[in-house]
Amino acid sequence: MDTPICDFVNRYHKSGVSRLHMPGHKGNALLGCEPLDITEVAGADELYEPQGIIAQSEQNATALFGTAHTFYSTEGSSHCIRAMLRLATEQWDTAKDGPPLILAARNAHKAFITAAALLDLDIAWLWPQQQSLCSCPVSAQQLKQAFAAQTRRPCAVYVTSPDYLGGMQDIAALAVVCQSFGVPLLVDNAHGAYLRFLRPSQHPIGLGATACCDSAHKTLPVLTGGAYLHISTTAPQNYTANARQALALFGSTSPSYLVLQSLDAANRYLAMDYPAKLAQCAEQVALLTAQLQQNGWVVAGQEPLKLTLNAAAAGTTGYAVAQKLRRAAVECEYADPYFVVLMFAPGNKQQDFQRAYEALGQVNYNIGQQLQPHNNTLQAPPVQAMRVRNAMLAPHECIEIEQALGRVCGSPMVSCPPAIPIVSSGELFGEQEIALCRFYGVQKVDVVAK
Ligand SMILES: Cc1ncc(COP(=O)(O)O)c(C=O)c1O
Repeated sequence: MDTPICDFVNRYHKSGVSRLHMPGHKGNALLGCEPLDITEVAGADELYEPQGIIAQSEQNATALFGTAHTFYSTEGSSHCIRAMLRLATEQWDTAKDGPPLILAARNAHKAFITAAALLDLDIAWLWPQQQSLCSCPVSAQQLKQAFAAQTRRPCAVYVTSPDYLGGMQDIAALAVVCQSFGVPLLVDNAHGAYLRFLRPSQHPIGLGATACCDSAHKTLPVLTGGAYLHISTTAPQNYTANARQALALFGSTSPSYLVLQSLDAANRYLAMDYPAKLAQCAEQVALLTAQLQQNGWVVAGQEPLKLTLNAAAAGTTGYAVAQKLRRAAVECEYADPYFVVLMFAPGNKQQDFQRAYEALGQVNYNIGQQLQPHNNTLQAPPVQAMRVRNAMLAPHECIEIEQALGRVCGSPMVSCPPAIPIVSSGELFGEQEIALCRFYGVQKVDVVAK
């Protein structure tokens, strides 16, 4: 597979041309990567009006992912989520039907809430019984019931799969329900770009999603920021036709050519022996998982490249396990009171698996403070006191969580990872919300000013 963006930039770099254009480093290395960091000079194409090397490279990605079109972003899935929601709402007749409504699983990333505010969407949250902060498995039956409970037709259904703990939704079953209601299924597949290359593919687009975003940088060998917006061949016509405009609406006019080269180079890598390397890596993760289970660890999630350990079931906390791993020169992706998440990819070496195994060892040792029993879910959905947009864009103030009773959440304050709000914009802080924030270590919250 060719790499037109990389080839162009290499030629440009080698040509020795005088760079009387941005960026200001003029190709001189401070970090080392500057010689390959260019802007939209003649021949370099334009991300939001591509007709040359970017268009060719995106065609390669489109062929690899089997989509109607795969669009590049250099600003992460966060950017693609905003564009995806724009596509879902652009044909909405607000004057006739009121603000668009979206049905969304509650474990949505913060980018979803900010997009809903920017696009003035109402959110009807899906609250299945097993829901927790990071996971929210929605069955086809629950989705049908949620449709039935609405008084207006949603513009889309939005789910996150895989989730931060490696849980995966049954996209095929949800897609069937969405099709029966004639409503697009949008998937936050930020953690699952690689799913396309499993045999058989487990990528949302192949399973019936209308559109999805992938953070290429999270699981593929791509620089941070590299992401895809995939549109299915079965998506409404406006999705493919207008996705570029929707991305441009929210994107910088200075896309990173380093990230574009990285996405371009990834096409060649993925088209070569990546599926075999991926299968091998997934086998190694499965083996490590089985070994740790034999040692007494309880694991969560089904995602093939993630290892999620239930630290609470081992009588400790995720933080304590993360600390133990750190002492053994292993840095995890995520830890919370309950879980520790390790993310693997074919780029990991045998030593990485070995270190994790040795550091974790048998489960019956004392590696830290025991978790106090706590219900980590909200018993009832929070009260929506203001519309998402009004709350997000109103004047705000930052207060101690202890002072938040009865106040309305302005912008959800959640650190990344996992950037999943406990309380979302416009919702009231009640006793249970404050207790859960405290449990997750949230000390200050952003509320609508009085
Ligand atoms: C589930 C989920 N969605 C979206 C995002 C945002 O992705 P990005 O960092 O590529 O903008 C993240 C980031 O952690 C995420 O975990």
